[in-house]
Amino acid sequence: MTHLWRRYLLWFANEHVNFRIPELESILSMYDIPLRWLEGPSALPYVIAELPSEESVKLLASRSVSLRCAVELWARAKTRDGLHEEMKAFPSERTSSYFSADKSFRVTVETFCKTISQKEKVEKIEEFSYLPIEGPVNLSDPDVILHLIEYYGMEPNNIPEKPYDLFFGRWVCDGSRDLICKLSLKKRRFIGNTSMDSQLSILMANQGKVMPGDLVLDPFVGTGSLLVAAGQFGGFVLGTDIDFLMLHGKTRPSRITQKKREVGESVKANMEQYSCLDKYLDVIVADCALPLWKSSLVLDAIITDPPYGIREAAERIGRAVKPGEEDVEYRISEEHILAGHVPSKVVYSLKQIFHDLLRFAADHLKLGGRLVFWIPIIRSEYQDGSEGDLPKHKCLTLVANSEQVLSAHSSRRLLTYEKTAEVGGSEDTCESGVEGGRFDNKAFRACYFNQLRQSDT
Ligand SMILES: C[S@@+](CC[C@H](N)C(=O)[O-])C[C@H]1O[C@@H](n2cnc3c(N)ncnc32)[C@H](O)[C@@H]1O
Repeated sequence: MTHLWRRYLLWFANEHVNFRIPELESILSMYDIPLRWLEGPSALPYVIAELPSEESVKLLASRSVSLRCAVELWARAKTRDGLHEEMKAFPSERTSSYFSADKSFRVTVETFCKTISQKEKVEKIEEFSYLPIEGPVNLSDPDVILHLIEYYGMEPNNIPEKPYDLFFGRWVCDGSRDLICKLSLKKRRFIGNTSMDSQLSILMANQGKVMPGDLVLDPFVGTGSLLVAAGQFGGFVLGTDIDFLMLHGKTRPSRITQKKREVGESVKANMEQYSCLDKYLDVIVADCALPLWKSSLVLDAIITDPPYGIREAAERIGRAVKPGEEDVEYRISEEHILAGHVPSKVVYSLKQIFHDLLRFAADHLKLGGRLVFWIPIIRSEYQDGSEGDLPKHKCLTLVANSEQVLSAHSSRRLLTYEKTAEVGGSEDTCESGVEGGRFDNKAFRACYFNQLRQSDT
C-alpha cells in the first residue's frame, strides 16, 4: 500500500480522559496502522499526528468513542494572524481539488470552552475570503467541510479573550460517539444494578481488540453489556454467571419505573435489540471459579467486570467448614439428592478472582489475545509504582491501565493484558502479586464503606 502521510488533528471528547490514548493505541494496533506523533498525548483535548492515509484515519474513527473528530490540518498557530499566514503559505496543490467548482463546501467554526455569537462566527469565516474556493456553499450536505477550531483552554471560569491555539483544515470524519447513544442503557431491554454503561463497554471491547469473527467471553456476564459491545464489532459472544435469577431475567428490576420484569428480558433479547443476535452463542449459569470449558477452547478476547462485593455478591461454590476454612472442592456423593441440589456458596475474594482470571486467560487466549477487566482501588493506596502490585502472570503483559475516578476515595482501573507467551511448564504459574490485601474485597469493602461514613459525617 502506498502511503500518503498527512498531518491530522485528532480532537477528543472531554470525558474518560485516561482512556483516550489506550483506546487509540488499541485501534491502531488492531488495524496495523502506523502513526507518527507530532504533538503526542498530554492533558490537552487533542493530539497532532501524521497518519499514512485518509482511510486509516477513517478506520480509526470507525471504532473510537473517545474521538470527536479528525481534521486534516492545514494551518495551526497561536494567533489569528499567524494562522492566516500559515494558511496562505500552504501548498495550493494540496487544497485545489477541494476548492474546485464542482465541490460544494461549508466552513464550520468551533470555539472550545467559549461561546460566541453567530455574527462573530460569520466574521471569522469571512477572514478566509482569500481562499480560492470556486464551488458553491452548501450548509446541509457539502462535499467539503472546512473546519476552524479555536482553543480557549480548559477553565470555564477563566476564559481568555484570545484563543491559546488555532487550527484550520479539512474535516475528515467524526468518531463513533453515536454508538454510545445507540447502546444506551436507558433504552436497553434488559439491565440490572451493575450493568456497564455503553461508553465504557465499547471502550472495553476496543481494549479487547474485538474484530469480526472473534470469539469473546465474559465470565461474569450479568446483563451482558460487554457482550452487546463486542457483538456490535462482530465478535461471537459467550458468557457465564453464577446467578441463575440474573441470567433468567428474574432478579428485581433496577428501573424505578418498573415493578416487575417483562417476559423475555435476557442477554439474548439485548443482542436482538441491537441486531447482533447472529453473534450470540449463549450464556450459561456457571461458577467462574470452576471453569467448565474444554482445554482446547481458544478465545480471542476475555472482557469482564468482576464483582467487587459492593453492589453484587462475589461468591463461588464452596462450603464453609468452619470460620475461615472453606471446602471449595465439595462433592455430592449421594446421587438421589443431586437433582435440584442448590450448591452452597462462599465468598470469592478479589485476590482469588484475579488469580483465576489471569490463569484462565493464560490458558485459553490465543497469542496476542487480550484480557480486559476492572480492578477497584482505594485511591490513597494506589501511588505511582503501584503497578507492580497489580495481578500478574508470566504469559500476560499489562498493556494499558486507565483510571476511572468514582469518588474522592475510590476509583476503578481498567486493566488490559495481552497474551505474549504460551503456558508451558510449572514456572508459568500465576503470581497474583496482591500481597497485603490491598486488592482484596474485604479490605476494599471495609475502606469503601469506612470512607463513605467519614464523608457523611
Ligand atoms: C459487576 S457484575 C457484571 C455486570 C455486567 N458487566 C453487566 O453489564 O451487567 C458481576 C457479575 O458477576 C457475577 N458473579 C459473582 N460471582 C461469580 C462467580 N463465581 N462466577 C460467575 N459469575 C459470578 C454476579 O452474579 C454479577 O452478575
